[in-house]
Amino acid sequence: MINNIRRARGIKGMVTIPGDKSISHRGLLLGAIAEGTTAIHNLSSSVDVGSTLSCLQQLGVTIIKKNDSLEVIGKGLHGLKMPASPLDCGNSGTTMRLISGILAAQPFTTTLIGDKSLSQRPMNRIIEPMIQMGANIESQPGGFAPLMIYGNELNAIQYESQVASAQVKSAILLAGLYARGTTAVTEPHLSRDHTERMLADFGVTVKRDGLSVSVDGDKVLQSTEVWVPGDFSSSAFFIGAALAVPHSELTIKNVGLNPTRTGLLDVLKQMGAKSEIQLYKRKSSEPNGDISVFTSELTGVEIPTDIIPKLIDEIPILAVIATQAEGVTKLSGAKELRVKESDRLRAIVNNLLLMGIQIQENEDGFIIEGRQKLKGAVVDSYGDHRIAMAFAVAGLIAEGETQIKNCECVEISMPNFFETLQGITVE
Ligand code: S3P
Repeated sequence: MINNIRRARGIKGMVTIPGDKSISHRGLLLGAIAEGTTAIHNLSSSVDVGSTLSCLQQLGVTIIKKNDSLEVIGKGLHGLKMPASPLDCGNSGTTMRLISGILAAQPFTTTLIGDKSLSQRPMNRIIEPMIQMGANIESQPGGFAPLMIYGNELNAIQYESQVASAQVKSAILLAGLYARGTTAVTEPHLSRDHTERMLADFGVTVKRDGLSVSVDGDKVLQSTEVWVPGDFSSSAFFIGAALAVPHSELTIKNVGLNPTRTGLLDVLKQMGAKSEIQLYKRKSSEPNGDISVFTSELTGVEIPTDIIPKLIDEIPILAVIATQAEGVTKLSGAKELRVKESDRLRAIVNNLLLMGIQIQENEDGFIIEGRQKLKGAVVDSYGDHRIAMAFAVAGLIAEGETQIKNCECVEISMPNFFETLQGITVE
C-alpha cells in the first residue's frame, strides 16, 4: 500500500490513541499465568498484541472479548498446555522475548517463529540468560528465530544485561517467577518498567535497587484489573505533527505517562516545545493524562545517552522534528536502532536524504543540521511501522507530495493511524 501525504495547514482538535502496546502484552501474559480472571480495559488494537493473544490461546488460555474490555482466564503458573504447532510471534519482538521467559520454565517444548524481520533480530540476549537459568534453547546459527525452547526447572540468577532492554529484563523476570530463589537483573540504563509495575499490581513483590530489579520465585500472581492507557509511542507522531506544522493546537486524551517512556517529552521541552499535561487520578500503577501540544519554535539539542531507552521508539519522529529546529541535533549511543523492526538509523537517514535533508549517519546515531526544507519524495517504510508513521508526519511538513511505500505496516502498532491523522489535519 502506498499512502500520499500533502503539506498540512494545521493540526487541530482532540484525539484518543488506542491502548498501549507494551502494557497490553504484559496484561495478557501476566493474566494468563495468574490465579483467577483478569479484566483488561482498552487493550491495544495492534497486530503485535494480537500475536501475543493468539500464542496464549494456543497455550490453552481462554480469552473472552467483551466490548471495550477482555477477560483472561488465568491458568496459574503451572497450567499452560503444550501447543499443537509452533507459536507465531509475527513481527513482535516483545511477544517472542517475553513469552520465552514463561516457556523456559514449562515442562514441554515449544517452537517460536516470526516473520522475516523478527527472524533477523537478535535472540541471544534472552537465550543466554535462559540457558544460565537451566532452560535449553536452540536457535538458528547466530541466535535467530525459529527458537526451540525446551523448558526445565529453573534456578535463579543475578544477571548483568549488556543492553538496556525492557524485553530482556522482562523475559528474565518472568522466568524468575518460576525459579528457585531470587532472580535479579541489572541493566546499564533504566528501560521501561511496565513489567515491574504490573507484577506489583498482580501482588508480586518486586525489589528495586538502582538499576537492579529482583523477584522471588514460586509466588502466586493474583488476578487484577488492568487499565491500559493510550500508547505514548503512537501519540509521539501526533505530538510531532502538532509541534512542527504551523497553526497547530492538539490535545491527546488519556495517554500513558510512565516516566520510563516519556523521554521524548523531556527532550522536546529542552528544545523549547510548548506543551501542557493534565494528569488523571490513578487507576493502576501506570500514570496517564491528557497532553496538549502547540506549534513551537524549536532548537536542536544533543540527546543524552542515558535517556535513550526512555525514547527508543520515538527516535524516528524526533529525527523528523529535528530537521525543523534551529541548530544541530546530535544522537549517539543508539545502535540498538539497527536491530529494531528495520535498521531504523539507515531507514531514517535514507528517507531524509530523499526528502532533501542533510544528515550524517554514524554507527550509533546521526547529526542533523536544523531549519532545513523537507521536500516531498517517494520514501519507504522498510516494512517498519514507526518509520511509516514518522514519514507521514514529514509529509505534512514537506513541500509538495510525499508517497510512503509499504505503509500497511502501521497496523503493527496503530491500525487506524492514517484515519486518525486525517481527522485532525487541516488541508
Ligand atoms: C518494548 C521494549 C523496547 C521497545 C519495543 C517494546 C517492550 O524494546 O523498543 O518497541 O514492550 O518491552 P527493547 O526493550 O528491546 O529496547
